[in-house]
Amino acid sequence: MYSRKIKSGIHEVGIQDWGRRLFDSLIPLPDGTSYNSYLLKGSEKTAIIDTVDPEFADVYLHNLSELETLDYIVTLHSEQDHSGTIPMLLKRYPAAEVICSPKAKDLLVEHLELDPDKIRTMEDGDSISLGDKTLRFVHTPWMHWPETMVAYLPEDRILFSCDFFGSHSASSDLYDNDDPAVMEAAKRYYAEIMMPFKSPIRSNLQKVRELEFDLIAPSHGPIWNHPEKILAAYEDWVSDAVQNKVVIPFISMHGSTAKMVDFLSKELIQRGVQVQIFDLAVTDIGKLAMELVDAATIVIGSPTVHVGPHPVVANTAILANAIKPKARYAAVIGSYGWATKMVDGILGLMPNLKPEILGSVVAKGTAKQTQLDELVKLAELIAQKHKLLD
Ligand code: FEO
Repeated sequence: MYSRKIKSGIHEVGIQDWGRRLFDSLIPLPDGTSYNSYLLKGSEKTAIIDTVDPEFADVYLHNLSELETLDYIVTLHSEQDHSGTIPMLLKRYPAAEVICSPKAKDLLVEHLELDPDKIRTMEDGDSISLGDKTLRFVHTPWMHWPETMVAYLPEDRILFSCDFFGSHSASSDLYDNDDPAVMEAAKRYYAEIMMPFKSPIRSNLQKVRELEFDLIAPSHGPIWNHPEKILAAYEDWVSDAVQNKVVIPFISMHGSTAKMVDFLSKELIQRGVQVQIFDLAVTDIGKLAMELVDAATIVIGSPTVHVGPHPVVANTAILANAIKPKARYAAVIGSYGWATKMVDGILGLMPNLKPEILGSVVAKGTAKQTQLDELVKLAELIAQKHKLLD
């Protein structure tokens, strides 16, 4: 048996995945991740909230080796990193009921081939009693799937939130302990996973704010024992507010685009604009996503490959289109050898983004004085726009 005590009758029994370096075969995990699972023993019933990635099923079941009976398997979110071990858990505890939101039932049946008769669905506000502990379910859809909900334990003032407020990090620390590194991991998580869902998150934050809790227990990363900080951070991230910051992701093949990026960035810095530059050949896209959370402007730099954008830039444009940063302004700069449709190619890959396009500067080979003058004008325009940010 392996567990970490949170309160009387409440333990964390999940997995720290120290070695994982990619999530969804896309997202870098510099600090690994965890699949938190919570064991709640009430005076009459026992429940588990969320399971772990099935890759760790054997270790997880060993963690629970001394658990003799289980009444409820609560699954707040149907993605496999939390639900994937439910079939193994049901095999060991065949009398257990699976508790989920109505929208989750079909997903669990389809993804895990669960017997529908084993599943009980909870409407928004429904509760189950464990005796001296109550789990009340609050629907918080689109965190980042449609079926997500949270569970509130009023007797112990704990909110179980699954991906909501999560952070990808493996840690021996049970709590955030006001560690800035945990907040950075949470921002990275928000940027990569949650940012496209700003509108439902705003509604869900309001619902969560109506509950009174001392701890937020997500299913990735440490438990928030300073919940106000992560609540305030989320409220800031999903707000319309942007910072006086330009993010410049770029690729350069022969140095021409790199020189333009360098020139533009210096013009911006001299005008009091913060700049974050990412060479996409070597960059951590999670760090780039984090900077896009609150940047006012994106300037994309690309050379031309067969008249279109460099494929790595195109990939980043597709990613930006998917995560939907709230940047208000955008521009494209870059170079070409003999002909180009690079600018239209990049903008065409981002139909979900609606920034004001401040223009483009494209040079045949190395930027000449004409293009340098255009870059100065672009920097001036960005600086003027940023001065008007509210
Ligand atoms: Fe941690 Fe959306 O699964």
